[in-house]
Amino acid sequence: NAKKPLKDFLHISDFNKATITKILEQAIDVKALLKSGDGTFLPFKGKSMAMIFTKPSMRTRVSFETGFFLLGGHAVYLGPDDIQMGKREETRDVARVLSGYNDIIMARVFAHQDILDLAKYGTVPVINGLTDYNHPCQIMADALTIIEHVGRFEGTKVVYIGDGNNIVHSWLLMASIIPIHFVCACPRGFEPDNATVQKARDAGISKIEIVNDPKEAVKGADVVYSDVWASMGQKEEASYRMERFQGFQIDEALMDLAGPKAFFMHCLPAERGVEVTDNVIEAPNSIVFPQAENRMHAQNAIMLHLFGM
Ligand code: CP
Ligand code: NVA
Repeated sequence: NAKKPLKDFLHISDFNKATITKILEQAIDVKALLKSGDGTFLPFKGKSMAMIFTKPSMRTRVSFETGFFLLGGHAVYLGPDDIQMGKREETRDVARVLSGYNDIIMARVFAHQDILDLAKYGTVPVINGLTDYNHPCQIMADALTIIEHVGRFEGTKVVYIGDGNNIVHSWLLMASIIPIHFVCACPRGFEPDNATVQKARDAGISKIEIVNDPKEAVKGADVVYSDVWASMGQKEEASYRMERFQGFQIDEALMDLAGPKAFFMHCLPAERGVEVTDNVIEAPNSIVFPQAENRMHAQNAIMLHLFGM
């Protein structure tokens, strides 16, 4: 795109290994700076970000808005009723209008095509804050959290238990770039998108397993990872899914099978007592809150990269 010298972040695989590594290193540095109370690093001074949300959010909204503010910028929240993208006006018009006022656009949408359209027609960098297909910012924050707690990211065994959803697609794309052992244990019929699994396997970088037995899957895990069984937009299927996902709850017995070094992670929001028990999410090896906090630090570094800073 000749109009747009700076890049978008729509999928983990938009970045190569060197870029992911650089972003994670910068996230650690900027996190340390912010934690030290140093208020002098203001690279986003004079910059504005438009944040489009067609779905609810706590982490994504607050981590982007606060992170952008802490680095000197100003963020504008546009909720589901504000611009009614695709309804009040077309996505390609929204993209061009918002590009006229802002230096960067972040969006959380239903259809993945909507984020592709925002990026295609926008003239400023566009960041994917979750679509029905993927959630790349989450998995960048997860990688940062694994580095901090396990001591490394490469070569770790990450076992996801549950629905083969947007989170899994971003894990698969991460595994197509960074060598890890990624296992998704899901009920039959809830496997991740086949083309994405194939892409990850074809990359030949990581060991990828898509299985149906959580007990076998978790053995030797560095991380046992969970997400809701019914994602945003699927809530009317919740009771049907509840039946189909029996046996996939992460409880203490499953964490024991995983072994003593396993951490528990969850992108949140969690439904305690459904995909994970209260005991597991409250256990000392649960790192869900540092994981949530790292959304801000990972995204700050992603934005610095997109601005070429
Ligand atoms: N994990 C995550 O994206 O949370 P929100 O839906 O609250 O933004
Ligand atoms: N899979 C979940 C992730 C929420 C952050 C959803 O899409 O609702």
